[in-house]
Amino acid sequence: MLKKIVFLGMGGTIAGTAESATDNVGYQAAQLGVEQLLSALPALRVTLADHAPVVEQVAQIDSKDMGWPQWCALASRVAHYLALPDVRGLVITHGTDTLEETAFFLSWVLPAEGLAHKAVVLTCAMRPSTSLSPDGPQNLLDAVALARAPDARGVLAVCAGTVHAARDVQKVHPYRLDAFTSGDAGPLGYVEEGRVRWVHPCPPAAPVPVQVAIGQLSAQHWPRVEIVMNYAGATGATVRALCAPAPHGSASVRGIVVAGTGNGTVHQDLEAALQEVQGQGVRVVRATRCAWGQVVPGTEPGAGLPHSEGLSPVKARIALMLELLASESKG
Ligand code: SIN
Repeated sequence: MLKKIVFLGMGGTIAGTAESATDNVGYQAAQLGVEQLLSALPALRVTLADHAPVVEQVAQIDSKDMGWPQWCALASRVAHYLALPDVRGLVITHGTDTLEETAFFLSWVLPAEGLAHKAVVLTCAMRPSTSLSPDGPQNLLDAVALARAPDARGVLAVCAGTVHAARDVQKVHPYRLDAFTSGDAGPLGYVEEGRVRWVHPCPPAAPVPVQVAIGQLSAQHWPRVEIVMNYAGATGATVRALCAPAPHGSASVRGIVVAGTGNGTVHQDLEAALQEVQGQGVRVVRATRCAWGQVVPGTEPGAGLPHSEGLSPVKARIALMLELLASESKG
């Protein structure tokens, strides 16, 4: 059976254009369709080998504008293709800015059986397609090599030749081509000349603590979870304002993730406000604003607030939203 690689376009800098080939910052993201990106890449035929491409544009946005409706649409298309026996793997072209969030979201909502032997690979670019030296074409070829690789499975990201797992990947640089890290976990591997060199075996899809069926996701309804940060001089004012009764028609805050300092610590005034709203039924989760490492639980200040089990603030927010959704469906 002829196997397929599915390409889903979401926009981003990889699909961006600038007036000048030397301008790598003053461009418009999400200008070219994924079909155009692929047809401008003759080498793709070689990398695809005997796989047929299937192409679909799911969204066309700068990923800073990513939201729940686009995630719902994407999850439903990915789940559809994953279930087809002739699909070998999927490649998603995406903006770098929220790529780690989309990857994590997909890794929690896609059916584990669909990911057991197939990879969903997110890729991106730091320079627009019109750049003198764009990085998108190579990233796209690497993503295809990864999606086809025999041992690839789960939700992965590839950028600048480095392969990351959805749970660990994080953008840490606003300009460099190699903008992502997997922090303490380290990358899963590298794509070199069309071949994947694993430095860790590709992990099986991790058991997800909450089960939210794709069919349960609704573009119109998602629990509102906000992120606040601890910093010198932080107070409880933001938390209290967020959790004040919502004006008619707007959703009330159901959860707060606090990006704590260091080991997830929070200013005593902020902590008092968080304890207060937690007592009123708002879920509070404590992460660290440090780019690497995770909260080490103990008797640190703030230890009375649950920690994020190693998730970064943005990923802890997604986990909490999905947990709240799952608990709603249980009644
Ligand atoms: C975006 O995230 O869509 C714009 C920035 C980028 O892709 O690097």
